[in-house]
Amino acid sequence: MNVLTKPAVIGSIEELRSRLTDAQSRIESARAGRGEAGLGRPRIVLVPTMGALHAGHLTLVRRARSLGDIVVVSIFVNPLQFGVGEDLGSYPRMLEADVAALAAEGVPFVFAPTSQLMYPDGAASTRVVAGAVGSLFEGAARPGHFDGMLTVVAKLFNIVGPDVAVFGQKDAQQVFLVERMLADLNFRTRIEVVPIVREDGGLALSSRNRALEPAQRAAARALSAGLEAAASVAAQGVGAALQAAHARIDVQPLVKLDYLVVVDPRTFLPVGGEHHGPARMLVAALVGHTRLIDNVALDLP
Ligand code: PAF
Repeated sequence: MNVLTKPAVIGSIEELRSRLTDAQSRIESARAGRGEAGLGRPRIVLVPTMGALHAGHLTLVRRARSLGDIVVVSIFVNPLQFGVGEDLGSYPRMLEADVAALAAEGVPFVFAPTSQLMYPDGAASTRVVAGAVGSLFEGAARPGHFDGMLTVVAKLFNIVGPDVAVFGQKDAQQVFLVERMLADLNFRTRIEVVPIVREDGGLALSSRNRALEPAQRAAARALSAGLEAAASVAAQGVGAALQAAHARIDVQPLVKLDYLVVVDPRTFLPVGGEHHGPARMLVAALVGHTRLIDNVALDLP
């Protein structure tokens, strides 16, 4: 491994902040030395993750590199966003492999705090509340999930102070709620959303895919196939799109559908059959014990 590109793995808020300030000063001095004035403060870009990095995360990292000067990847399996009986204990943790993958991408800083550092008094007593949309879809299946997710995202933004944070479109409801939080609470950070990365066969990449057995993985492809079928008939309306997706998904006995719905991207609320314009189809299902989600943009004329 090239020592110059090996990320600093930091587990302290003070150290992270002082390393970022130093990195910004170094970039500013180098720019001044090259006579490059007026470029503004070097930009920090955060990629928040829970680790177990896959090619989808590395796409976020590459986008982050193109958006700013200093990339920070956070790796923290946030207990606050897991409900009772969910997979907090078994969620894959592989810091060494993650850091090696980030080294190959030239990431300079990995923030890998402990739960004790993030929640010194146990579960944070002050929390961000996701509001009504936070109780729909993923929020209905996972009560409290989005409050926990927004709380840790707000904490990470306050710790790192990024100009931009990069999120994946796969978690469409998460993206909607983070964008709303940033607007409602007047954060300076803006977010950049990167399209879903898929395996051959269409399955959206997810750290949870590791838990799928081969037959389950094959069956799970019905989700993306259903979304693709829906997008191909979207010109015929919401009903036709839903029917096309159901026709692909419902025939898979290993796929237990939780929800299949079309939402208005401006409100994230379900649309009626007469909806026209941009929309997003969301799907969630259990395959074995693994909960999978996926989505696709629909253009309903
Ligand atoms: O998408 C995730 O991996 C998590 O929800 C996030 C944004 C890192 C917060 O824990």
